[in-house]
Amino acid sequence: MVFYSFLTTRSLSLSSAMASKIKHVTVIGSGLMGSGIAQVAAQTGHTVTMVDVDVVAVDKAQKRIENSVQRVAKKKYGDEEEASKFISDTLGRITTSVDAVTAVGSTDLVVEAIVENLEVKKKLFSELDKAAPSHTMFASNTSSLPIAKIAEATSRKDRFGGLHFFNPVPVMKLLEVVRIPETSQDTFEAMTGWGKALGKVTVECKDTPGFIVNRLLVPYMFEAVRLLERGDASARDIDIAMKLGAGYPMGPFELMDYVGLDTGKFIIDGWHKEYPDMSIFNTSPLVNKMVEEGKLGVKSGEGFYNYNKK
Ligand code: CAA
Ligand code: NAD
Repeated sequence: MVFYSFLTTRSLSLSSAMASKIKHVTVIGSGLMGSGIAQVAAQTGHTVTMVDVDVVAVDKAQKRIENSVQRVAKKKYGDEEEASKFISDTLGRITTSVDAVTAVGSTDLVVEAIVENLEVKKKLFSELDKAAPSHTMFASNTSSLPIAKIAEATSRKDRFGGLHFFNPVPVMKLLEVVRIPETSQDTFEAMTGWGKALGKVTVECKDTPGFIVNRLLVPYMFEAVRLLERGDASARDIDIAMKLGAGYPMGPFELMDYVGLDTGKFIIDGWHKEYPDMSIFNTSPLVNKMVEEGKLGVKSGEGFYNYNKK
């Protein structure tokens, strides 16, 4: 017991020493996830550069952060003056850019949260690898792609890991920290320590499909779609059933809309291609059709539910 607590104390202080090396973070991709990651990093005292492909995207992200940080401040502080200081300090720590290569020229950690596509992520990391200082650590927020395959594009596999956040990032308490065999102990501890500095509870995961949460959650969501495709029950009734019968905060269709049907489709398509014999990874004709029609869920205004209605 004594030995255990010595180890725990020592590894905690090591982690916080390593984490304290992470002062400036560059988040690439300012969509649902990237904007949330930038926000929580800024809320906890880190300076952040948030990058996207164009000004329209970063402006949209800034508005999303402004709304969200106001909700956080309202919850956190009764006092209006303290709340408004928290909001302005947080927003003041975030700068934006549309040039990822320049943005990583001086940063301690890069967190990538762009589209769920292996080739696109590899191309980005290979460019960043040439531009970032040697001490800079790289992490992907991928939901489903192998971290090892993304890291192949770089010459810094020892400073590469997965940092898998959950949507909505300012609310969800979990962070999965994924290591590949080459991830150094220093990098793993720095990433875990940084996650804790953000106020997240971290779990360690191997680089397996979906890590822990998505390996269970994504097949569950697609099994719900198969119920609907067979006409066994309506989306609304399935959602009610899982909320009231299983205590889930959202039903599977509400959750798919929240996550984004495009993201869900990218995940299942990739796994189905890799493991064609595993029926839990079967793709869905209905989801394919909806994505083709631009029905991506909350972010596009329509998915299984319509969000444009007043
Ligand atoms: N920013 C800041 N605070 C927020 C927020 C946001 N974007 N969204 C919700 N909140 C906070 C607020 O404090 C809010 O209180 P206020 O209304 O006073 O601001 C409180 O949460 C409750 O929110 P709501 O009343 O709007 O709604 P709710 O009670 O239904 O909670 C929810 C919303 C937290 C999203 C909840 O429905 C939930 O937990 N849903 C499940 C989410 C989930 O499973 N996420 C994981 C998705 S899978 C994933 O992320 C991995 C992947 O790779 C795909
Ligand atoms: P999103 O579509 O909301 O945002 C992606 C952003 O990346 C867009 O703004 C896009 O313009 C930008 N982008 C694309 N290519 C870029 C590039 N080369 N450089 C800079 N920006 C680029 O997607 P999201 O839901 O935030 O997902 C992002 C990543 O996070 C994906 O890998 C996804 O699997 C993962 N993820 C998603 C969720 C979720 O619930 N949506 C949860 C956890 C992890």
